[in-house]
Amino acid sequence: MVGFDSSEISSEAQYKLAVGSVTPRPIALVTTLGPQGPNAAPFSFFNVISSDPVMLMFSAGDKSSGAKDTVRNIQANAEFVVHIVSDAIKEAMNICAVDYPSEVNEIERAGFTALPSVRVKPPRIAEAPVAMECRLVQITTIGRKPYHVVIGEVVYFHFHEGIVNDQFHVDVGAINPIGRLAGKSGYTRITDRFDMPRIPLK
Ligand SMILES: Cc1cc2nc3c(=O)[nH]c(=O)nc-3n(C[C@H](O)[C@H](O)[C@H](O)COP(=O)(O)O)c2cc1C
Repeated sequence: MVGFDSSEISSEAQYKLAVGSVTPRPIALVTTLGPQGPNAAPFSFFNVISSDPVMLMFSAGDKSSGAKDTVRNIQANAEFVVHIVSDAIKEAMNICAVDYPSEVNEIERAGFTALPSVRVKPPRIAEAPVAMECRLVQITTIGRKPYHVVIGEVVYFHFHEGIVNDQFHVDVGAINPIGRLAGKSGYTRITDRFDMPRIPLK
């Protein structure tokens, strides 16, 4: 084994060790609404964190000029939509990650189609196989380099046809999500799946 004491290596090194190890990470493509219009950006520090009600979290680090547009928009109006990034929309997602000025509408810039949401004001993306409309529960700011951990309650789920059956089972193959690996360009698909039933307590 090799070991590293976090207090003896740089924060950049710790970040590389963490994002290279915590893989694959799901990717949330988050739409928000700000004073200058709609915004979209991807976040792979992302997961579902509760069941009643269902809540999601994602974590956004500051840029040198301060909080990212996504965080500032949610701080202002407490609503957002989380989309699951599929293989089919990966290139458009990547366009949304460009650090455009606030007035740029990444939904349009990426060639996505904006649709009205049902329960929240920010628009949703038609091309995403899953969209979850969220109301803000809390934002917790952590770390010496600030990261804003955004927690939202899902108030409406949207799925493309053919993904959910009448038992609410989701066909992940029909979503065909991608995951984030290490570095600036590493991704994976779900093309090597297997089942492993849970062991009952005897
Ligand atoms: C696949 C992917 C995952 C990303 N994950 C994160 C993340 O978890 N946290 C973060 O702060 N930035 C992340 N980024 C970078 C943001 O998407 C990027 O800073 C974006 O410009 C923020 O946009 P905004 O200022 O419009 O909110 C990620 C980028 C990509 C391509």
